[in-house]
Amino acid sequence: MKFSTLAAPIGLAALATAANVLPRDFDSNDYYVLHLDGQTSPTEVARSLGLSHEGPLGELQDHHLFVGRKAEHDIVKRELTKRRRRKRSLGDEEPHVLDSVLFSEKQKLRKPWEKRMAPRPAGPSRKGLFSSDEGVDWAIKKQKDVIGTLGIKDPIFKDQWHLLNTVQTGHDVNVTGLWLEGITGKNATVAIVDDGLDMETDDLKDNYYAQGSWDFNDKGPDPKPRLSDDKHGTRCAGEVSAGKNNACGVGVAYDSKIAGLRILSKLISDADEAVAMNYDFQHNQIYSCSWGPPDDGQSMDAPGILIKRAMLNAVQKGRGGLGSIYVFASGNGAGNGDNCNFDGYTNSIYSITVGAVDRNGDHPYYSESCSANLVVTYSSGGGDSIHTTDVGNACSDTHGGTSAAAPLAAGIYALVLQVRPDLSWRDMQYLTVNTAVPINLDSGEWQTTTIGKQFSHMYGYGKLDSYAIVQAAKNWKKVKPQAWYYSPWIHVNKPIPQGDAGVAVSYEVTQAMLDEANLERLEHITVTMNIDHTRRGDLSVDLISPNKLVSHLSVSRKNDEARSGYEDWTFMSVVHWGETGVGNWTIIVKDTQINSHQGTFTDWHLKLWGESKDASKAKVLPMPTEDDDNDHAVIATTTLPAATTSLPPQPVATETKSTTVSDHPNRPVNSKPTPTNGSSVTPSPTSDEATSETSPPANSTWLPSFLPTFGKSAATMVWVYGSAALIGVFCISLAVYFWLARRKRLRNNPRGDYEFELLDEEEAEGLAGGGSSAEKRGGAGGVGGGLSGSGGGKRGTRGGELYDAFAGGSEDEDDVDVGGVYRDRPVDERGSGSGSGSGSTSTDNGHRQQTRRTLSDDESSGHHVVGDDDDDSDSDDGARPLRR
Ligand SMILES: *[C@@H]1O[C@H](CO)[C@@H](O)[C@H](O)[C@H]1NC(C)=O
Ligand SMILES: *[C@@H]1O[C@H](CO)[C@@H](O)[C@H](O)[C@H]1NC(C)=O
Ligand SMILES: *[C@@H]1O[C@H](CO)[C@@H](O)[C@H](O)[C@H]1NC(C)=O
Ligand SMILES: *[C@@H]1O[C@H](CO)[C@@H](O)[C@H](O)[C@H]1NC(C)=O
Ligand SMILES: *[C@@H]1O[C@H](CO)[C@@H](O)[C@H](O)[C@H]1NC(C)=O
Repeated sequence: MKFSTLAAPIGLAALATAANVLPRDFDSNDYYVLHLDGQTSPTEVARSLGLSHEGPLGELQDHHLFVGRKAEHDIVKRELTKRRRRKRSLGDEEPHVLDSVLFSEKQKLRKPWEKRMAPRPAGPSRKGLFSSDEGVDWAIKKQKDVIGTLGIKDPIFKDQWHLLNTVQTGHDVNVTGLWLEGITGKNATVAIVDDGLDMETDDLKDNYYAQGSWDFNDKGPDPKPRLSDDKHGTRCAGEVSAGKNNACGVGVAYDSKIAGLRILSKLISDADEAVAMNYDFQHNQIYSCSWGPPDDGQSMDAPGILIKRAMLNAVQKGRGGLGSIYVFASGNGAGNGDNCNFDGYTNSIYSITVGAVDRNGDHPYYSESCSANLVVTYSSGGGDSIHTTDVGNACSDTHGGTSAAAPLAAGIYALVLQVRPDLSWRDMQYLTVNTAVPINLDSGEWQTTTIGKQFSHMYGYGKLDSYAIVQAAKNWKKVKPQAWYYSPWIHVNKPIPQGDAGVAVSYEVTQAMLDEANLERLEHITVTMNIDHTRRGDLSVDLISPNKLVSHLSVSRKNDEARSGYEDWTFMSVVHWGETGVGNWTIIVKDTQINSHQGTFTDWHLKLWGESKDASKAKVLPMPTEDDDNDHAVIATTTLPAATTSLPPQPVATETKSTTVSDHPNRPVNSKPTPTNGSSVTPSPTSDEATSETSPPANSTWLPSFLPTFGKSAATMVWVYGSAALIGVFCISLAVYFWLARRKRLRNNPRGDYEFELLDEEEAEGLAGGGSSAEKRGGAGGVGGGLSGSGGGKRGTRGGELYDAFAGGSEDEDDVDVGGVYRDRPVDERGSGSGSGSGSTSTDNGHRQQTRRTLSDDESSGHHVVGDDDDDSDSDDGARPLRR
């Protein structure tokens, strides 16, 4: 093969870390990540593109980083487009080096994710809740024993109530019994992905694991705190791994190793974050992540595709294939009505989401709820915070928020790995579900699940009990590999009535489908959906399982003004853990506010994840791509197991008394519901060329609702193919139109230029295996959707001119104000901060998130100025007024 290589193993090895080591200069350079076919030499590709090859991208197979001089355009996409045109017009069949590019992404600097620090003020201590004298006496004696037996000399150990609470007895992680057994995190390694780690501080230096550490902000091997504000990571590290010595306190796993990965202190690219999330993943076992999208009650953001790939990669290959354990803080935005299902990290099935309880065992006002919330553990609130190590041989007594809960959980998982290093990432989640202790049963809306556990969206399966989880781990029988079942896209296209009524749609999963999918019992479920709505915060979504358990996938959010609705957004739930999955799954979408904002429920699909029946048939999940959700129209013919006898999804209108399912059990495929109550759901108004020209088959007296679900009958298939063909014809005409338009040099007209560039971009993406949501919507929503969709729905498309256009608009110095980046202030204040700051630059159509996260390159310099006003962050952490 002409272009195959070359890449001598030695050459690759030499380059292996180069991509991490080299500093980035986004002022004069552009950086591209390319996914190559593995056959072609990256050097060859670089030459063809006029770029230099920086090296492989971390642990992601066949992904490479390239650098070139700064250019206006995405030159890779441009070259790929050229190549594609040539191929098409000249019929050029010669193999070309660029044919090896499977995916490309121009890198952008974006704001780092936000730390989930202690929101203040914490409420006053709740006197009167203290335990009986008897309990206290017993706890004090226990403390004395532990200190004596283990020789603990750490000066603040007695303040570390989260380890052993002698005041509110029982409100601690119940770890001392394990220490007395010698279970202290030996041989386990936790990486703190944060703003640095003071590896020189006495409390951490002995446990510091240098090989697993890296500074991705100021390129180099030592993730030292460099900004005055860089204290968060060190405090988190102390909770896990502070040594048993004379300094401050002890970590919950005080003999574990601790690594630092610094990503939160400067603007960062997705490429660098992806490398960080896989860093030394054969030895870093647990990644503790106390950060995420802003908890302002209006953000809805998820990791980019490279980071998603990195997380799946870690789960498949990290720890020798057992899977890296990601632990995420649920978020501090509960006071803003935020919910952790609007955060693509906490709602990933690959992360363990951890919320907080305070030292009284109460729910602190900040800790977010959601159906993806697995467990809670102790943090600030109720008049106190977490006492831990700080930067520069100091101790902190102000650490808190869900930021402090996640590392505590990570430390407890380190204890588990000491006794059972062979457990998989899913075993760890099972153990968590099985041993968490439900709390506050009179509040928190607990449901009894199918496996007899209690679940609350606020507390997950309860609070972690170190002793209980480690004892259970000792004899745990490992679960079989993962399996999954994907439903087809279920097309709804119904206007959503306002108020308490909703649109309910059921989908029946049969035993045959799950047999075919090799799926035995459920763990996670995910629902990906599209809703058009002019005020996203008005929406709520519930999912009701065959066993009548309810997941509140989405809740209304008062601050969320986005006009974009949901665009291929994926919600996750752990409520259905242990169900078989067989039966009717009903989704209910409500528009909770009666106002002028309206919306349409477009479509959804359900994915069931769980344990396989037959381990020998287990498969490896393919890496996510940008077009995973582009199959709205075509999936009907391919996904549904041919043998099934199930009923199709049945669009149903109900007054949503939650579990009500169809009252028309035998309605044929694609039929509209007979409105049970004409007013709540009106027939789909969509009527375009496609429907009018593709008349339904003769014996169908019912007209198909605009889009087919998935066809069982020949009639439906005809319809599906017919509309697909028409849409195709339309798209081709559109392309021809723009092509002609270009030849007429519409460039004089800025508007025309803009649209042309956009199309060009999409073409390129199509070639690179990309594709935009606009195209997806074209499939789902029909021709009209294809057009209107092109403005929005670009969640996965982080490059592109459109993106730049909006980023340019947000070049407002205030936007980059340090306060906007390091939000260690109360969430309530944050809300107003964003409202007047970045919020004002976001217009509509989901560009909020992009505007917020993209900065022009010159703004990056503003970042070094961080926080002279921040030295006092200990004394008034979070209580100070909004920085402006
Ligand atoms: C806490 O740990 C002790 C052992 O130290 C154990 O006896 C007790 O059952 C644990 N608590 C719970 C709730 O499991
Ligand atoms: C740590 O791991 C090594 C090698 O895997 C093993 O020999 C040793 O027993 C382990 N130590 C503990 C305390 O588990
Ligand atoms: C699912 O719902 C349909 C329609 O209501 C009903 O005919 C069917 O029996 C249900 N299936 C199960 C397993 O309950
Ligand atoms: C429709 O619903 C309204 C209130 O939601 C109710 O008053 C009316 O009786 C219902 N009509 C039918 C036909 O059920
Ligand atoms: C439509 O016709 C097909 C075959 O002609 C038949 O099998 C089917 O039952 C008919 N459907 C309806 C709804 O009458």
